[in-house]
Amino acid sequence: MNISIIGTGYVGLTTGVCLADFGHTVACVDIDAEKIALLQSGSSPLFETGLEDLMKKNAAEKRLFFTTDFSEGVCNADVVFFAVPTPQGDYGKANLSILFDAVRTCVQHAKPTAVFVVRSTAPVGTVAKLKEMITDLRNDATLTVASNPEFLSEGNAIENFFHPDRVVIGADDEHAKNILSEVYRPIVNGEHPLVITTCASAEVIKYTANAFLALKISFINEIADFCELIGADVKEVARGIGYDKRIGSQFLEAGIGYGGSCFGKDTKALVARGEEQGYEFKIIKALSTVNDSRYALVLKKLKKYYPNFSGLRIAVLGLAFKPMTNDVRDTPAERIIFELLESGARVSVFDPVAMPGFKKQFKRSEELLFGSSLYDALTDADACIIITKWNEFKNCDLAKARVRMKGDVLIDGRNMFERKDAEQAGFRYEGVGR
Ligand code: UDX
Repeated sequence: MNISIIGTGYVGLTTGVCLADFGHTVACVDIDAEKIALLQSGSSPLFETGLEDLMKKNAAEKRLFFTTDFSEGVCNADVVFFAVPTPQGDYGKANLSILFDAVRTCVQHAKPTAVFVVRSTAPVGTVAKLKEMITDLRNDATLTVASNPEFLSEGNAIENFFHPDRVVIGADDEHAKNILSEVYRPIVNGEHPLVITTCASAEVIKYTANAFLALKISFINEIADFCELIGADVKEVARGIGYDKRIGSQFLEAGIGYGGSCFGKDTKALVARGEEQGYEFKIIKALSTVNDSRYALVLKKLKKYYPNFSGLRIAVLGLAFKPMTNDVRDTPAERIIFELLESGARVSVFDPVAMPGFKKQFKRSEELLFGSSLYDALTDADACIIITKWNEFKNCDLAKARVRMKGDVLIDGRNMFERKDAEQAGFRYEGVGR
C-alpha cells in the first residue's frame, strides 16, 4: 500500500518508519527542509531506541522516502496520516491550525479515493470538522477521514508499535475501515487486538487513555504525600495494590509528577472540550491541579535543609521529562530550575542526552552550568536533585558522588535510591512518600 505521513515529529517519524517495515511504501512529508535533509542523510533527529537503524534499513530497501514536496509525497497515497503538532492554544484548548492547514494542502494533491487519517491527538469532533472542510474544498472527491490514535510511549516507541496492547481505528465508512485494517494486518492478531469503532469514539479513547494514566500518577502522588506524613512507604503501598489485576502495577511510581508533550496538554484540552459542551470534568481537573504543583515538593524538601537558597550551588540531574529520550517538552526540570535561579541559587545540570534540547528551550540557559558528566555537575554542589530516572544515575557510585559535593543533601525526585544506600554513602536523603 502507498502511504503518506504528514509531519516527521516523534509520532509521524516512528509511524512512518514502522509502516515501511511492514512492507508498505511510505513517503514522509515535512515543511522543515533542514529536518528532511537530515532524514534523507540517514540520521534521526530523535533519540529513540532502534529508530535510526530501522529508518536506514527501509530507506535502503526503497520503501521509505522523505520529502518537503507535498504534491510528490501525497499524489500516490492510498492513506495519508496526519501527525502534525496540535499544541495547547488559548484557555487549554488544542490549537488545530497546523492540522487544518496540512489537510487543506493535501486535499489538492490527493487521489479521490484516499483515506485521510488523523494520527495527531485532536479533540473530539475534529474528524467531523475535517470532513466538512474537505467536502467544501473538493466536492468531486470521495475522500474520507478516519482516526487512528497513537499510544506510543517515548523511549519505547518502536517496541510499542510492533507489539501494541491494541490498535484503535475510528472510521465511519466501510472503505476507511477496510483500508486501515489492511495497513495494520501484519501485527493484528489475538495478542494485539484491533478495535474498530466510530471516529468520535476513537477520539475519546485517546483522551481517556491519557487522562487515566495521568490520573494513576496523580493518585499515587497524593497517596505518597500522605505516606510521608504518617511514616508509610509509597513504594510498598504501590506494590501492595499493584498485584491487584483490577488496578495493575504500572503508572504507580510516585515522584515529582508527569511531564512530556501529552499528559499535561491532553488533560487540559479534554477539560476545555468538556467546558465547550457545558460539562465539567471534576476528576480530570483535580489530577491536573495535583500535577501542576508537584515541582514545589522538591523545593519544600530542599528548604528543610537550607531555608535560604541564595548563594547555594544546586546540581540538577536529569532534564528530559523521562529516561531514554531527549525530549524536554513540559519537563518538571524547567520549573524547578527556574525557581532555584529565582531564589538566587547557582545551578549545575547534567543529562546524558537532553542537554542540547534544554539549552535551546530554557530561556535562562546561559545562567546554567552544563556538566560534562554527572560527577562534573555535582562538583562543589550543596545539594543534588534527581529529576529523571536515568539508569546512568541509578548506577552511579554514590560514595564518589558524595565526595565530589560540598554539601550532603540528596533529593531523589524519582525514588531511584534506597535511603540506607544513600545514607551509607554519607548523604542526608529525601525520597518521595517514604
Ligand atoms: C504518554 C502515554 O504513555 C502514551 O500512551 C501517549 O500516547 C503519549 O503520552 P509518554 O509521554 O512517552 O507517553 O510518557 P510516559 O511514559 O507515559 O510518561 C509520562 C510522564 O509520567 C513522565 O514524565 C514520567 O516520568 C511520568 N510518570 C510515569 C510518573 O511520574 N510515574 C509513573 O508511574 C509513570
